[in-house]
Amino acid sequence: MAIALINKPIIITGAATGIGRATAIACAQAGMPVVLTGRREDRLRAAAAALPAGSRSLVVPGDVTNPDDCRRAVEECLAAFGAVYAVFANAGYGYEGPVHEMTEEQVRAIFETNFFGTLNAFRPAIPHMIERRAGHVLICSSCLARFIIPFYGAYSATKAAQHHVGRAMRLELAPHNVFVSTVHPVGTRTEFFDVVAEQSGASTLVKHSPDLFVQPASRVASAVVRCLKRPRPEVWTSQLVRLGMSIGGAIPRTADLFIKRMVDDHTRNASAAAAARLASEGTRVPPAR
Ligand SMILES: NC(=O)c1ccc[n+]([C@@H]2O[C@H](COP(=O)([O-])OP(=O)(O)OC[C@H]3O[C@@H](n4cnc5c(N)ncnc54)[C@H](OP(=O)(O)O)[C@@H]3O)[C@@H](O)[C@H]2O)c1
Repeated sequence: MAIALINKPIIITGAATGIGRATAIACAQAGMPVVLTGRREDRLRAAAAALPAGSRSLVVPGDVTNPDDCRRAVEECLAAFGAVYAVFANAGYGYEGPVHEMTEEQVRAIFETNFFGTLNAFRPAIPHMIERRAGHVLICSSCLARFIIPFYGAYSATKAAQHHVGRAMRLELAPHNVFVSTVHPVGTRTEFFDVVAEQSGASTLVKHSPDLFVQPASRVASAVVRCLKRPRPEVWTSQLVRLGMSIGGAIPRTADLFIKRMVDDHTRNASAAAAARLASEGTRVPPAR
């Protein structure tokens, strides 16, 4: 039987934009009180204003890299709505570039937000869920948790780490009647790629993503609400990609060749740029193939 979501409060991180915002709307439509968190208060308030009339919501600005901010979101949810039924740990960002060219700070920063920020988001809510013997943690990972594309190595590593933690927690929390699900969107039309461009200084690879693999944020949001109603371990928003990832995992060399072809133009451009940079520093490099 489907779980009735009415009056079951959910905390959503990164709720100001994209997948988080669309999920806030879908959860409010299902009757859930929604706590919207993120760093930009003005964007959060705009997202809260877009919820259906009569929705119960709360804006709690905060940064997922700060555990105190995440604790405050849980405390304010409890004070306003009397419970925390679900947490959607969704806040995150991407970075495009060769791993070896990323600074140590850049690599650590993406893990701070995407991985440690995810833990920060749900940890303060877990004791409460265990006590009530009811709850659902959803972690926004990515299809890249299962696969790799060049130039997204660090980002994919954060998404794989989220996926692994989610799998372990699913078994740890099952005896307490707390569900844990990982969400694996494919390319989604959000501000994600603007942030990638801002963080990395360039974002050309995504221009090669076939339209087939780019979806609206509302599709992910609907899938999250379906999972809240009927909990399942993993939420995939493209069965075709899920199948591709599974087959690719079984034949990694062929999969790498396929991916290489898909991103070859980008690889050539990036290699040429790196060669030019090194040449200007007086280092000879072999031409890109
Ligand atoms: N779009 C895609 O193609 C795609 C595909 C697979 C997975 N995903 C995942 O989906 C999730 C949502 O991304 P999106 O596509 O909806 O992109 P988005 O529109 O850029 O949303 C990301 C949200 O995260 C928030 N955020 C970022 N850093 C934060 C921090 N340190 N503390 C609190 N909030 C923070 C941002 O708000 P503030 O800047 O105001 O804090 C923003 O609202 C991410 O985890 C992403 O990895 C996206």
